[in-house]
Amino acid sequence: MEEKIHIRTHIALTPFEPGDKPNLVLYLNDPVLYRNTLRIPSPYTDADAEQWLNIASENRALYGRTYNWAIRHTEHGVIGGIGAFLRTGVDGHLDEIGYWLGEPFRGQGIATDAARVMCAWLFETRPALVRIEAKVHSDNPASVRVLEKAGFEREGFARKHTIKNGELIDVILMARIRE
Ligand SMILES: CC(C)(COP(=O)(O)OP(=O)(O)OC[C@H]1O[C@@H](n2cnc3c(N)ncnc32)[C@H](O)[C@@H]1OP(=O)(O)O)[C@@H](O)C(=O)NCCC(=O)NCCS
Repeated sequence: MEEKIHIRTHIALTPFEPGDKPNLVLYLNDPVLYRNTLRIPSPYTDADAEQWLNIASENRALYGRTYNWAIRHTEHGVIGGIGAFLRTGVDGHLDEIGYWLGEPFRGQGIATDAARVMCAWLFETRPALVRIEAKVHSDNPASVRVLEKAGFEREGFARKHTIKNGELIDVILMARIRE
């Protein structure tokens, strides 16, 4: 079964593929991206990309469908990623999403479109899902804006919620509830 979710002309969500390694290394070596996320190492090496591609492939086999999507451009290949964490399992009521977009492609509404499409797909394919949340570092207004435009509401400010490199980070809790 081909898995592909249309986002806009030239851009779709698709599974990651082994050939995506060079783009992952290219776009994930980015200080802004590193600062605003928790699981992306810096520097981001070939081995990190291989490990990620294995995880994505194993998850796909485990769940029988993709939850870690590549944001793929017909000309440029993978330009970003968006995924669900399956917080309460595939049949659970709660999930969390995370996403990134390569620096050359920012500021064009692509992450917003990806988040909208991802939420619609999650609600459509998972009947028990009621709540999708995202946690954003408090100094990442672009991501808060993406979520607002994708129908999320700001629910709270969690002080010293996360530790990154030994530093305690405040996060903004955003959530979207099934209508
Ligand atoms: C956050 C990220 C995904 C946004 O991607 P994007 O495709 O540029 O986002 P969009 O173009 O859809 O929307 C960005 C919005 O943020 C706004 N924005 C950008 N920088 C901003 C800033 N410093 N302050 C306030 N708003 C800002 C833009 O103006 C735009 O809003 P608008 O359409 O109302 O003008 C991208 O910057 C990224 O990958 N960052 C690093 C990883 C990351 O932060 N991931 C999210 C972790 S929670």
